Amino acid sequence: MTPTNHVDLTAIMTALGGRQAMQDVLGVGASAISNYVARGSVPTHVRSKLYNALTARGYQVRLDDLSIICGPDAATSPAAKPMILLIIGGGIAAYKALETARQMQRLGLDVTGVMTKSAGQFITPLSVAALTNQKCYDDLFSLTDEAEMGHIRLARSADLVLVMPATANLMARAASGLADDLATTILLATTAPILMAPAMNPAMWAHPATVANLEVLRQRGVHMIGPTEGDTACGEIGSGRMSEPADIAAAAFELAVKRPQTLAGKTAIVTAGPTVEPIDSVRFIANHSSGKQGYAIAALLAARGASVTLISGPVTLPAPAGVKRVSVQTAAQMQAAVNAALPADIAICAAAVADWRVAEARHAKLKKPDHQNAAGMQLTLIENPDILASLGQSDQRPKLLIGFAAETEDVLENATAKRSRKQCDWMIANQVGAADDPVFGSDQNHIMLISETAVETWPRMLKTELADKLAERITMEFLT
Ligand code: C5P
Repeated sequence: MTPTNHVDLTAIMTALGGRQAMQDVLGVGASAISNYVARGSVPTHVRSKLYNALTARGYQVRLDDLSIICGPDAATSPAAKPMILLIIGGGIAAYKALETARQMQRLGLDVTGVMTKSAGQFITPLSVAALTNQKCYDDLFSLTDEAEMGHIRLARSADLVLVMPATANLMARAASGLADDLATTILLATTAPILMAPAMNPAMWAHPATVANLEVLRQRGVHMIGPTEGDTACGEIGSGRMSEPADIAAAAFELAVKRPQTLAGKTAIVTAGPTVEPIDSVRFIANHSSGKQGYAIAALLAARGASVTLISGPVTLPAPAGVKRVSVQTAAQMQAAVNAALPADIAICAAAVADWRVAEARHAKLKKPDHQNAAGMQLTLIENPDILASLGQSDQRPKLLIGFAAETEDVLENATAKRSRKQCDWMIANQVGAADDPVFGSDQNHIMLISETAVETWPRMLKTELADKLAERITMEFLT
């Protein structure tokens, strides 16, 4: 651990609105504040409260010494925002680019649209321009004209180039390095990361030509999100449906924002998704879990330079960029994978592990009981290992161990008890099961972070934002 850094409490006090405001934020009296000022340092839990209070007021703050980088105005000025160059391809899913642009703006990203000629068959440059508040470029604009932004400059101004829908044609042109329109020219000229969201007919997606193009693009470091399984616009069911706007926006946010590499050299294990416990060869017991929260956490720890192993039950999400994913089915497999990934500095157990498994799962499909003497089906369940609790007691216990507690009632009491029972450092608690407030599968979450000394209530936010904030809090833990 590094020694505690000097903290300029006077500057923080001013930013918070004075001494009384700081006392209110910290819940302490005037003498405690005087002590902190005299020492020029604060304990860890105070540091996190100050950090949260400042960032909640729109300040950008350095994690190591709480120095203020810029105030609320600068933080929200366009110059401070990462820029996404959104290349819209010519497919029926093009209309989803508008919703994705809106979601990216919500995450604090600036969006500039570029449309291929065929995208114009589906949406208009005017709707893209109106939504993004930026000119939408297409091949009708002369980019060699001095009055316009040159295509190289446009390509270089991006923090991320997002291609959606990435059609079979656009992927093929990008893979073979063509530069026969503005979109493909940008893809060649950019030095920013590229994220593609493919969308096409399932047969086109499965075609060896597309498979080969995908491989070429992947090898060149192009990030892919989707496609997913489901109904496609052409009426066929299969893989080829574009990922949802919220998931694409979240992936763009993870890739575009350059985060300080404050977790470089640290190792992290994240468990995510459900576990699936077989009853027989076709039936199983499982919990609800989309895996979105765990995947976002893994992505944002990796974005800060941590070396992350994501141990995941079956979900439909792609592995986040820069993360090593180990796929498992059962709790026993998850535990074995966690043990194999030790030692680690950080472990976050976000998986919804099934508490029980069937004592003797059958290899063949169980027959339904004969109706005449049906007495119901009896299954003997035995308890699964508690992965989080065993990490808490392990000789190789990670320095920072974090669990999740999804509770239907008495959230704080239950989660606090669970934190001490499972011997973890933080328990992240949320209420689930309210009919009007779904968490499972949703893009939003609202939590309480319970540590030994404090309870922080975080406002409702996108799961990606929550993961980002959690990664920042984790960084602070290693700085102090
Ligand atoms: O007891 P409960 O299932 O509510 O605890 C939730 C926390 O414990 C989560 O962090 C979950 O990942 C972890 N857990 C585990 N192994 C289990 C059950 C829960 O790691 N068998």
